[in-house]
This record gives sequence, C-alpha cells and structure tokens, in this order.
Amino acid sequence: MRIAVYGGSFDPPHRGHVEAARVAAETLGADRFLIVPDREAPHKELSGDGPSPEERLALCRLAFAGIPGAEISDVELRREGKSYTADTAEQLLAENPGAELTLVLGEDMLRCFEDWYRYRFLLSNCELAVLPRPEEDGDELRALCGRFERQYGARIRILAFEPIEASSREIRGRLPRRLGADELPEAVYAEIIRRRWYGAQPELSWLREKVYEGYLKESRIAHVAGCEAEAVKLALRWGEDAELAAEAAILHDITKKLKPQEQLNLCEKYAIIINHAMLNAPEVIHAVTGAAMARELFGVNDEVYGAIRWHTTGRPDMTNLEKIVYLADAVEPTRSYPSVERLRSLAEEDLDAALLETMERTLERIRALGGEPCPDTVEAAAWYAQRKNQ
Ligand SMILES: [Fe+2]
Ligand SMILES: [Fe+2]
Repeated sequence: MRIAVYGGSFDPPHRGHVEAARVAAETLGADRFLIVPDREAPHKELSGDGPSPEERLALCRLAFAGIPGAEISDVELRREGKSYTADTAEQLLAENPGAELTLVLGEDMLRCFEDWYRYRFLLSNCELAVLPRPEEDGDELRALCGRFERQYGARIRILAFEPIEASSREIRGRLPRRLGADELPEAVYAEIIRRRWYGAQPELSWLREKVYEGYLKESRIAHVAGCEAEAVKLALRWGEDAELAAEAAILHDITKKLKPQEQLNLCEKYAIIINHAMLNAPEVIHAVTGAAMARELFGVNDEVYGAIRWHTTGRPDMTNLEKIVYLADAVEPTRSYPSVERLRSLAEEDLDAALLETMERTLERIRALGGEPCPDTVEAAAWYAQRKNQ
C-alpha cells in the first residue's frame, strides 16, 4: 500500500494548498492520501488570533473536501509537543505494516530538508514528491534532487505543477484589511469571517454577494444597496468607520423576508425573549433576529450588532453607527415620501435632529393608521426630545 502524506500548518489552508493536493492526488495515485495539519510547527510560530489546531483541522476538512479520496488526518494533533514529520512517518509505518510513504512537500521545504529533525530517517524511509515553486529555476531544483539521490539514496520526484501564488502568512496580513477572499476556498473564508480569526473583516463585495443571493428578496436589493450608500456617506460626514457602516447596512435586513413563524423560530433559536410590543409590531422582530443572525453567520462585532438591532426602532442614547444606519434606512435614495429630502439634508447637518424628526414621523404615521407604536421608539423619541430642549 502506498500512502501519500501532505503535511503543513494550513494556517489557513488556501487555494494554493488545494491545487497542490489536487495535483499530488492525481499524479501519485496513492492508495491513501493523507492531509496532515500539524499541532505545533517545528520552525514557525502560529498566529495568536488564529484557529486552534483542532479548528485548523476543521478548516482543512472544508478546504480539501473536493479532492477525491483525501483524508484529513489528526495523527499530529494526537501527539503533544512539536509535530515532527519523522515521528509522523514512523507512526504511520508502524500502523500500516509494509506501507510505502510518499511525502508531498514544497520546493522551499526541500531546500532546508537537511535541517529537518531525523531527515536521514525520512530520506531512507519515504519517497519525496516535490512541488516546484514558480519563480525558481528548474535546473537548480533538479541539481538539488540529484545531490540528495547521490548523497542519501533519496527517491525524489518533481510534480508537474502550476503553482497558485499564495502564502498563508501574507493572507493572514490581508484578512484584517478586508482582502483575501479570492485566495481562500469559499467555505474556508466564510468560516474565518464567521469566527473572525486572524482579525479578519469581510470583503464588502463578498458580503454583498452572500447577502443579496442568500438572504434578500430580489425587490429589496435596491433598498439595501441604497442604505449602504447612504450609510457610507453619513459615516464619512460624521467621522465614523465607513466600512463598518457598510457592513451593518448590507446586513441590516437579512431576516426581513422571513415569515412571522420563521421569525418566531429564530427567536427561539437565539433565545430572544419576545415582549408584548414586539408581537404587536412584527415589523420590529426582523431587527432583533437579523442582528443575532448577522453575529452567528458573519461574526459581526458589537457595534455592527447594535446598528442592526436598533435600525427599526431606535433607542435612547444611540451610538453614532446606530444613528447612521437608522437614518440611512429611512432616507436612502429609493425612499420617497414628502419629508424625505428634508430629512436627508438634515442628517448631514445635525444627526440628532434628523434622528428625532424621523422617529416622530414614524410615531405619527403609526398612530394615524390606528396602530400602537413600539415602546422603544416612544422612549427613544422622548429621550432625544428632552435632550434637544436641554
Ligand atoms: Fe429593516
Ligand atoms: Fe431596511
């Protein structure tokens, strides 16, 4: 039996890893193809705000799901301390008597192979399958392989591989800057955003696509896009983080299309206590369930959570981001009602005045229709009215 082993930190696993695994799986035709995330890399520090070893293993499951026959192995996670490939190879050979091992590794790893722990053991007991680097000279690699073969009796094959330029370290650096989605398998990126590992912030284009396609009615997309544009404008005007404002606006109506029963199911799922006022004003529930869902699926921070949570009713003493999303929702370009132009320009001049007027308009409208306004809005309007008079 031939076992191919592709080990690494996979912190996180990226498209380059997946392509390498695909080529190795197809070329080597091994009976088993093991992807082996390490517990503790011998030579490098893991990122502090990244996933745990078990979570990296779970990311590998997502990343390599499309590689036929690939098994994600926890062999190194089950050992304490540094993860040495030689220990892994020895363990696999002991567990699979008579098996032949092929180690899949990058060219840069081959170049420092003589620094590896028990490299002679590895060279005597495993075949190496090397993934060449794009910018390197092939002659130099072949010369290196030749020397290893002569000096150590190594068995090395060079895989025909068109590498994808990607590096986990560089991707980790890009994730907090709302970049990196293209370089990661979709499921891996979504999970990183959900958990906000590596300080990741979602790429706004990625978030729009997810939300527009998965969570909005076709007819609501123009409103949400308008709300984002307005929220960004107001954030820039009032010195708030425009990208956070955009994130909140994109997500603010993610549960709006759900039916009342579905809303109630979500309330149960997220342990949201529904009060009398919310039952009387079902319009309000989507803000509460939307905030909870945005946190669960996209890992939003407390500021964005608050902006979604209070976008329908408002509340006393709102944060600036909450005010911005509340107002953007009310005055975005697709809205048309008699006072909208006035409120739009007031929002640029005096955030609190625009907020109060919008709340009072909402209260009037609901009362005119014979409805009972949500107490949160009544309380918020009273709070801002009192503050205005102070
Ligand atoms: Fe809404
Ligand atoms: Fe909305």
